[in-house]
Amino acid sequence: MTSYSTLLVETGDNILMLRLNRPDALNALNSQMFDELKSFFANDYKAYAFGSVIITGTGEKAFAAGADIKELNGLKSADAERLSAKGQSIFKLIEEFHAPVIAAVNGFSLGGGCELAMACHFRIASTKAKFGQPEVNLGIIPGYGGTQRLVQLVGKGKAMELLMTGDMVGAEEALRLGLVNYVVEPEQLLDKAKELATKINTKGPLAIKGVIRCVNGNFVPGVDGYHLEAKTFGQIADSEDFLEGTSAFIEKRKAAFKGH
Ligand code: COA
Repeated sequence: MTSYSTLLVETGDNILMLRLNRPDALNALNSQMFDELKSFFANDYKAYAFGSVIITGTGEKAFAAGADIKELNGLKSADAERLSAKGQSIFKLIEEFHAPVIAAVNGFSLGGGCELAMACHFRIASTKAKFGQPEVNLGIIPGYGGTQRLVQLVGKGKAMELLMTGDMVGAEEALRLGLVNYVVEPEQLLDKAKELATKINTKGPLAIKGVIRCVNGNFVPGVDGYHLEAKTFGQIADSEDFLEGTSAFIEKRKAAFKGH
């Protein structure tokens, strides 16, 4: 298995726990972490058995406190645009990943950290989590999809306010806004994420992949989501898993899905 310097990977029960691991910098996303996230989602995941991914932060304080500000300092136009495009493409890889990616947000989830959490399929927060896009405090805008995904999750008006003020919101407010699905005590955070991941792991992997694809299709300009749904429904109908799922129901037994 690949070893990383900014990520820790733990496996068990068909769940991959990916810990952002730069606790001294509050898990700020530097270029090494971006490269390693890309390597994990584009290549290394395949080396493990199929299953859900949970992303969380090492330490008690932060999920990720943003892009590494030390790397941003002094950046000029062309390099900045390239960096933004690179970050966006890696977070898109996560958003479009075929297996569930759940963010378990344990603390500060700011700037790029909030953008990473929003690129995950859904989010669970500990009571200590804090979310925000404080880039305007640095005189810049979010560059890894924050101006787009925040609107999708909380609506235009609130997104405008949060993006323009740079204010943080706590876990309960994030729940109220629809930014996170659950708020739990810090010591229950990973259990809650694992509980949901375990439940999803019992479902047909092709069906889960289809759900992710079709829901994402809703946000792609020019894509007819209903057409995409019908097409995906048709493709999955040819699978052994679909036959297994319907047969298991009729035979009153648990389905044993294989992912094909
Ligand atoms: N990039 C690089 N380093 C960061 C960082 C970031 N985004 N966020 C925190 N750190 C580093 C700090 O520089 C500090 O390192 P040091 O001990 O070597 O000085 C360490 O992490 C701890 O942070 P500190 O600021 O001392 O903790 P705090 O509890 O006082 O404040 C925050 C926590 C999250 C409020 C504060 O760190 C912060 O505002 N971070 C930047 C958030 C941000 O603007 N993100 C968007 C970036 S585009």
